[in-house]
Amino acid sequence: MSAITLADFLAKQNTETQLARLLVEVAESCKIIADTVQRGPFLGVMGQAGNTNVQGEEQKKLDIITNDILIEHMQDTGLLAGMASEEMDHHYAIPADKDKGDFLLVFDPLDGSSNVDVNIAVGTIVSVLAAPKKDSIADEDFLQKGSEQLAAVYCTYGASTILLFTTGQGSHEFVLEKDSNEFMLMVENIQLPADTKEFAINASNQRHWQAPVKNYIADCIAGEEGPLHKNYNMRWVASMVAELYRVMCRGGIFMYPRDHKDLSKVGKLRLLYEANPMGFIIEQSGGVASTGYKRIMDIQPEGLHQRVGVIMGSKNEVATALSYHQNFNEDGSTK
Ligand code: AHG
Ligand code: MN
Ligand code: MN
Repeated sequence: MSAITLADFLAKQNTETQLARLLVEVAESCKIIADTVQRGPFLGVMGQAGNTNVQGEEQKKLDIITNDILIEHMQDTGLLAGMASEEMDHHYAIPADKDKGDFLLVFDPLDGSSNVDVNIAVGTIVSVLAAPKKDSIADEDFLQKGSEQLAAVYCTYGASTILLFTTGQGSHEFVLEKDSNEFMLMVENIQLPADTKEFAINASNQRHWQAPVKNYIADCIAGEEGPLHKNYNMRWVASMVAELYRVMCRGGIFMYPRDHKDLSKVGKLRLLYEANPMGFIIEQSGGVASTGYKRIMDIQPEGLHQRVGVIMGSKNEVATALSYHQNFNEDGSTK
């Protein structure tokens, strides 16, 4: 490991001063969350909160606690005009008595939280947008395309606490070094392998998949004897941050595609909190991030909690999966 801290690295990259300060503060929030998640069983914060979020999902106590950590830490930085999160119905405006700044912060405070009680890696995903104004921020101000993101960060709390970020100048990986409590540079400019033999999808949804995904996965499973002429392996952690960290390390394709399970939902993952920031980091690492039908970061968001189909990872393998979608419309019907 190098001796370069996140702050040193941002200075070396000539990151704009305010944005660099913001990223360091996001990393500080992640340190607090890492500590809270790790001490969870002793703090009595495991298990269900007993309520549901705006998207009708059961909230864990830690979903709410980690959301509060981000709000409380970040509202005092003077760098933000507002925040939006998977766990809040509407945006959070910075209170009138606090200094405001030029950025909006959008986050999934605890991704993969269904895994938190069983000691599997979870994480925090953050997207940074420009605030169109400092006061009177509205939900609509957050509805910016992924391609307009100024930065994306994600941090996974696993065997190690690992943070990846991009400002559009490549993706870079840092590991939390316990003694100094600093994120130290591990890999500069990560490039994920273009080819893979590993796919990740929740196969229990197979009966709900659209035809292109059914056909592609059937051909993966057919192995060397099938049309793709490769023996694939399958992994499913049920934690996007852990899944995509594996993809960043050794390549792979990660899919949570649009399906027919619940016609009111276009996919499971959220465009603003999950798909856009992870898509930005994957693209900056040489990968591809698509819905199956279009580039994720080109979608004009229509709602804060909008969902989207996700197919992302190794460039050539995603291209193969996308080729199965060519003759289909987004609702899965044939063209
Ligand atoms: P969250 O915990 O923020 O709601 O997100 C969970 C997501 C994602 O991390 C993971 O890939 C997927 O949901 C798992 O879904 P299944 O439970 O259907 O496997
Ligand atoms: Mn999530
Ligand atoms: Mn979450």
